[in-house]
Amino acid sequence: MTRYGVVGAGRMGLALARAIAATGEPVLVARTRPGPTAGLAPLDQVCRECDVVLLAVPFPVALALLSGPTGRCGRGRTLVDATNPRLGRHAAPPPGGGPGAELLARAAPSWRVVKAFNTVPAAQVASGRLAGGPVSVPVAGEPAAKREVFALARRLGFEPVDAGGLQDSGEVESLAVLLSRISDAHGLCGRIGIHIVQTVLDGSEGGSGSRRLGRRDLLGEAVEQPEHAVLQPARVPLHAQQ
Ligand SMILES: NC(=O)c1ccc[n+]([C@@H]2O[C@H](COP(=O)([O-])OP(=O)(O)OC[C@H]3O[C@@H](n4cnc5c(N)ncnc54)[C@H](OP(=O)(O)O)[C@@H]3O)[C@@H](O)[C@H]2O)c1
Repeated sequence: MTRYGVVGAGRMGLALARAIAATGEPVLVARTRPGPTAGLAPLDQVCRECDVVLLAVPFPVALALLSGPTGRCGRGRTLVDATNPRLGRHAAPPPGGGPGAELLARAAPSWRVVKAFNTVPAAQVASGRLAGGPVSVPVAGEPAAKREVFALARRLGFEPVDAGGLQDSGEVESLAVLLSRISDAHGLCGRIGIHIVQTVLDGSEGGSGSRRLGRRDLLGEAVEQPEHAVLQPARVPLHAQQ
């Protein structure tokens, strides 16, 4: 049994914590500011004791937190960065212009940082499905740590997709910005997600020439070469609100 910890008791933090709790896994939530603490755990306990810690606070708050003792107490545990530096009230390009997740990893070398769940709106966390299909969650980071996050994403009903190393997390952060813009432009109120589809040549004579790949293939274990990958919005009717 994995003990999960969530830092931040706002919309995203509570959505993640409730979704994890609904799967039966133990989860502790901590806030980072003074305020009511009923049902919450001390920040220090969450950061020191949980096997996997998810960050759901504004990016500058996460960076400041990890630049202190929290950044040094990881002992190789997995830290899931769900922040979006370029979105929200605190939006600003991360210092240096690179991915926010890389900055967090540099500030917190004792943790294995993985970028994930930042592309999922808080309102969407409770269900990994949208319009009848699974929502894909790009996961970027170090391989062993990513496996823990793949498992969590699957447990929550999402379809994890290997999005590369932490150096690739800038694209995962940009994807969240794009989805947010589309959501705002079409009045979707966060009811948006992506579903990644791959096809490969199946080699069958007279066949359609392609078949869909399964989850396993999207996690980098495919035995065949993908012919092409299609990134498409989940089947949300974008004109629904017009
Ligand atoms: N909302 C979404 O749909 C969504 C989706 C994906 C990713 N995210 C990311 O998740 C993070 C949290 O977003 P949210 O939507 O949950 O925001 P929120 O509802 O405003 O909650 C913000 C959280 O950050 C903590 N915090 C600490 N210092 C803060 C400060 N100076 N100003 C504001 N909040 C502060 C808050 O207090 P406590 O720590 O005391 O609880 C709270 O837990 C952000 O990085 C955001 O980009 C959000």
